[in-house]
Amino acid sequence: MKHHFSRRAFLAATGACSGMLALPDIARPVTPRDFVLTAAPARLPLVGPPHPETDVWCYDGQIPGPEIRVRQGDSVRVRVENRLSEPTTVHWHGVRLPNAMDGVPHLTQSPISPGETFTYEFACPDAGTFWYHPHQHSDVQIGRGLYGPLIVERHDPLPIDRDITWVLGDWRLLRDASISNDFGNMHDVSHNGRVGNTVTINGRVREEFAVRAGERLRLRLINAANARIFGLNFEGHRPQIIALDGQPVEPHTVEQVILGPAMRVDVVLDCEREPGRRCRVIDSFYSHLEYRLLDIAYGGEPPLRQSVQSRVPRLADNPVPEPDLTTAQRHLITLEGGMMGMMRGIDMRMMMERRVAWAMNGMASTEHVPEPLLTLKRGSSCVLELSNETAWYHPMHLHGHSFRVLSRNGKPTRYREWQDTVLLEPRERAEIAFVADNPGDWMFHCHILEHQIGGMMATIRVL
Ligand code: C2O
Ligand code: CU
Repeated sequence: MKHHFSRRAFLAATGACSGMLALPDIARPVTPRDFVLTAAPARLPLVGPPHPETDVWCYDGQIPGPEIRVRQGDSVRVRVENRLSEPTTVHWHGVRLPNAMDGVPHLTQSPISPGETFTYEFACPDAGTFWYHPHQHSDVQIGRGLYGPLIVERHDPLPIDRDITWVLGDWRLLRDASISNDFGNMHDVSHNGRVGNTVTINGRVREEFAVRAGERLRLRLINAANARIFGLNFEGHRPQIIALDGQPVEPHTVEQVILGPAMRVDVVLDCEREPGRRCRVIDSFYSHLEYRLLDIAYGGEPPLRQSVQSRVPRLADNPVPEPDLTTAQRHLITLEGGMMGMMRGIDMRMMMERRVAWAMNGMASTEHVPEPLLTLKRGSSCVLELSNETAWYHPMHLHGHSFRVLSRNGKPTRYREWQDTVLLEPRERAEIAFVADNPGDWMFHCHILEHQIGGMMATIRVL
């Protein structure tokens, strides 16, 4: 992925940071690194010849948008220009930033009108893999291609050979490769969202990913799809998960790397097969709908190294405050609705008329509304028990904080992973815990964007 800013600006910005201490201190004043993002329509070869190009909306004429890559503790200043025909905002998914920079229309800022600009400025306290996207009309704006990666590097990077980002996109295309216009239809809203028919990696349908035998990769996976959940199998390989939603986790291998919408998984991939070999990466999340995502294609060069790779080290933790479970206040949040599950107190006809299909604790918000579902005291530790009383998956995302996933269906999780988006299975219950240390009104919503617009969205106030 290329940088969109000039090399001169890049060098100047890097120079300004060199020699500074490696402290991820949010309060430390730093010279911000400057970026410009222009949201506008473009035409891009998503599928590739012989198919025509696709009319998309994107940042700086590319999908994904330009990679914003900074170091932990850096401040960024991003001037966003809106050249779309409708208002937009940019949300910095997973970054624990001040509320006014969170990019939620009407809640934290006025939407950026066509022709206008807005400048976001915030520090990046956590190293890891994050992403940015609109929070205005987001099922359409993200679904048409507005998203990009935000990578925050550690000051002591992992010893790896290549650092690769795969932004996974999912599109519902018609035969002429144009984007189907049926955004927000009631079927998608009340079932599993707008799952498309074309999956891209970094904005293209890919045949293969070239590797060299013996190399060790860090692969940063970002799910930017409206609704598709990925379950990736790397045939012939044993990827080790080292971070989830940007936050380090004890390195471990899994059968299938699962990413709900908005989730990030960082893996270390050791290329241990022989030169010339091809191995498939399969997405088998939805039963009977398995497909080959692409091949890992080994070049003919001799292996980069002969020796067996050393153990993958655990990344140092980010400065996320540890919740005190002995004093934590507890709240139950139930998720209701969808086909095959009724919502208490909401009648079916009203539901269809208002295009509401989902609720949280009986409240259905289809707009960004300030009335909070919960008000939490600033600095307090909180446990939220999430109870999915529906027949569907829900990736639930909290803004402004990372939380530990303590348990699932009453069973403690093995890694007590930090996440900003927890994927709940149908009928699953999970406990999450965090310190409500970031004042403001924060969205807590399902990141299947059709569920979000269908009512599965709420505000949590930290006061
Ligand atoms: Cu990725 Cu509320 O957002
Ligand atoms: Cu959902």
